[in-house]
Amino acid sequence: MYQENDLEKIDIHAEPPIEEPARQYYFMAKCRKWVKGFEQRNGRLPKSCVLNFGCQMNARDSEKLRGILREMGYAEASEEQADFIIFNTCTVRENANTRVYGRLGQLKPQKKKNPHMMIGLCGCMMQEPEVVEKLKKSYRFVDIIFGTHNIFKFAELVATRLESDRTVIEDTDQIVEDLPNERKYTFKSGINIMFGCNNFCSYCIVPYVRGRERSRDPKAIVREIEKLVADGVSEVMLLGQNVNSYGKTLDTPMTFAQLLREIEKIEGLHRIRFMTSHPKDLSDELIEVMADSKKICKHLHLPVQSGSTNILTKMNRKYTKEQYLNLVEKIRRAVPDISLTTDIIVGFPGETEEDFEETLDVVRKVRYDSAFTFIYSKRTGTPAAVMEDQIPEDVIKNRFDRLLKEVQAIAAETCAVHEGTVKEALVEDICDHDSEMVTGRLSNNLLVHFRGGKELIGTYVDVELSECRGFYYIGAMR
Ligand code: 5AD
Ligand code: SF4
Repeated sequence: MYQENDLEKIDIHAEPPIEEPARQYYFMAKCRKWVKGFEQRNGRLPKSCVLNFGCQMNARDSEKLRGILREMGYAEASEEQADFIIFNTCTVRENANTRVYGRLGQLKPQKKKNPHMMIGLCGCMMQEPEVVEKLKKSYRFVDIIFGTHNIFKFAELVATRLESDRTVIEDTDQIVEDLPNERKYTFKSGINIMFGCNNFCSYCIVPYVRGRERSRDPKAIVREIEKLVADGVSEVMLLGQNVNSYGKTLDTPMTFAQLLREIEKIEGLHRIRFMTSHPKDLSDELIEVMADSKKICKHLHLPVQSGSTNILTKMNRKYTKEQYLNLVEKIRRAVPDISLTTDIIVGFPGETEEDFEETLDVVRKVRYDSAFTFIYSKRTGTPAAVMEDQIPEDVIKNRFDRLLKEVQAIAAETCAVHEGTVKEALVEDICDHDSEMVTGRLSNNLLVHFRGGKELIGTYVDVELSECRGFYYIGAMR
């Protein structure tokens, strides 16, 4: 394992090492030399800003980028102040792409004014060849382009860019362990347990941009969590596109439930979360581990996507409405106080009013604690994009509004059920709107705001949930 001050000892005039992560530390040392030169010439450190557009996996990647920038010596700054701006992009829905092009357009004048300015683009959108082609042609002021598979190579790409004036574009595929990262919170952290997805849901671009499923070595995962715990972390979020199929591709296969059992043993670790779960792979063994565990949080994110078996088949989800509802019943029987959340897509090609009613029916039967609702977005290259019967916008909008109303009303009711109870909260932050209040996260993933000071941040406290405000609580410390 590398220590921070090891960078000073690296001979940057020697040839770069071939093996990883030594190679990346070599390039970090090289960039650090450049940063020092910048400081001498300009009387200040260069400033960087990593902007995250995507999901929890992206947020975790952004922490890695910030960690590498910190090692290089960059100071952090806002987008307006930064000399090096990195957009960590998402491409799950088309409007995410449109937003990035818009933001890039706005950056062009900023880059003209600031001679030091560099722009880096990474994340899922950069795994799309058409996007890279478009950027090469119409956005030539971008300095570095790299996909999700190459986050680990960031230092090398920056060093290469600093030595030439050409856009650096990278696309390879490897998992590299033991690189630095800059965590947003000192007491909780995301951990990638796997990358990619093999499910090919017919609407989804993720398997094309994130590649095939690769699980990390369980020993490396446990080692990483042990180190985090020694560093003050007490809550971890295990991340993967479909954590329920963890371990299938390992040399010695193991199940996600077995991995959880190993993580449960880590002393000093207080809470374990994970996402996302695919209903088709959620095993009885996992339900059993969740029921037994003292550390796994009482929350399961279980995307349903649609309530209609007909649409689910077209989506290639590999479960029926009944199978999903039976699964929910089984989970609730084993873990009665579990909070369930979901993802739902409205307006998938061919969705009839009856199909949509089935979705509403599932929402009413499951009574989710919250749900992310999405308007279907056509992604070129996916099977759904060429399906007949794309739904008109006004019909989708109408269904979307009805769904949202239903979801919100039910969420408010399920939230109110816990009013008056006392629950344990991990204090995360001072409230934005009141500096004498703090925000804590409950095991079921809901937030509670209560009177308290910053000394509570990172600690667990018992809080009475006095009043439900729809999707969070106002409480008081007990
Ligand atoms: N259109 C709309 N929503 C989508 N999702 C994935 N692909 C699409 C798409 N093409 C949603 C799914 C998934 C969540 C992360 O994003 O609901 O669970
Ligand atoms: Fe996309 Fe389906 Fe994989 Fe989730 S499981 S990332 S929705 S293909």
